Amino acid sequence: MEFTLNEEHKYIQQTARDFAQNEIAPSSVERDINAEFPTEIVKKLGELGFMGMMVSPEWGGSGLDTISYVIALEEISKVDASVGVIMSVNNSLVCYCLEKYGNDFQKEKYLKPLASGERLGAFCLSEPEAGSDATEQKTTADSDGDFYILNGIKNWITNGTKADYYIIQAMTDKSKGYKGISTFIVEKSYKGLEVGKKEDKLGIRSSDTCSIGLNNVKVPKENLLSEAGTGFKIAMDALNGGRIGIAAQALGIAQASFEAAVKYSKERKAFDVSISNHQAIQFKLAEMATNIEAARLLIRKAAKLKDEKQKYIKEAAQAKLFSSRVAVLSALEAIQIHGGYGYVREYLVERFLRDAKVTEIYEGTSEIQKLVIAREVLKQ
Ligand code: CAA
Repeated sequence: MEFTLNEEHKYIQQTARDFAQNEIAPSSVERDINAEFPTEIVKKLGELGFMGMMVSPEWGGSGLDTISYVIALEEISKVDASVGVIMSVNNSLVCYCLEKYGNDFQKEKYLKPLASGERLGAFCLSEPEAGSDATEQKTTADSDGDFYILNGIKNWITNGTKADYYIIQAMTDKSKGYKGISTFIVEKSYKGLEVGKKEDKLGIRSSDTCSIGLNNVKVPKENLLSEAGTGFKIAMDALNGGRIGIAAQALGIAQASFEAAVKYSKERKAFDVSISNHQAIQFKLAEMATNIEAARLLIRKAAKLKDEKQKYIKEAAQAKLFSSRVAVLSALEAIQIHGGYGYVREYLVERFLRDAKVTEIYEGTSEIQKLVIAREVLKQ
């Protein structure tokens, strides 16, 4: 494993950093307060090639590796984790599923516009009664001639109100349990697809989350992804990669917290010196720096394994489990170092804490990551 970035990776990092500073930072505070979706920013991310980073150029993507992806996601999330999750879901979950499991017709029609950023995607697995226990799908897809008829409710859908296309899991054969789950590509314009109200969230407020109702939605059979009954495997496979993305998002938040803490500790004086001279602050910074470096190594290891087409289920779960904790702890320490100023909006670190928390919840809670890791360890 390389510990230094090659020239291409450095270029991606600088491009993402410049874009985040110039295009995302100026509106991030306002968008957080108003829970406003970054429509123009997402469009520009598409033009930059960041909405389908790992998709082959043949299908409208940038053809980059997973290392490039996590580097870019860290930089974007360092400035605005809401933008990070929008990008992550489109790349890791939606485009990945279509490129790996779609046929040429589906790739031409759906992957090309999604990977090039012309269209936005959402991934619909969770339901009111199927969160961590994702096999418990209640949404049904009944065969009817050339169509499947979908009925059910999907919850916590990132990009839910803004997406053009939805990757939806539904039961085609309840008697088979999770082996009866199938994956469908559903267009927003299909009759019976109802976008629920936007959730009023603690953090990542500028990203949009809602429920999706499916009331007798007629989906053409040509929109079944891969074969009937393979849906759960497709979802799990996509989430393995998705977890590397969310880990990179968490790392961006942790790094932003750390940089804010370092800056403030050099500026703020107490007992006649900058507080960075006090050992109490130095110990906090030392722990933050070490945890962040360890998180980055775990993420890059998982990304490298994925690029080398080796197994990465355990490593992806470890990267997410560790990085999301580091994000929360780093944001908490950044607030502590800022004292009262850390508790008000003006200094940004309070947002880092609000944004960090969800990384321990979505794409599998920390408890689910531990379960995944334990199962993999026990197999060895
Ligand atoms: N990778 C590949 N395959 C996997 C897998 C993984 N990580 N985890 C399970 N599987 C496979 C199993 O091998 C098994 O297949 P076989 O029978 O062929 O061996 C099948 O899936 C069923 O698995 P289990 O028997 O282990 O099922 P389980 O019910 O005991 O556990 C679970 C499943 C791991 C808990 C799974 O339900 C899970 O990951 N839950 C979390 C769901 C989740 O991450 N949701 C995120 C929603 S999307 C989101 O958050 C996006 C966003 O908005 C940001």
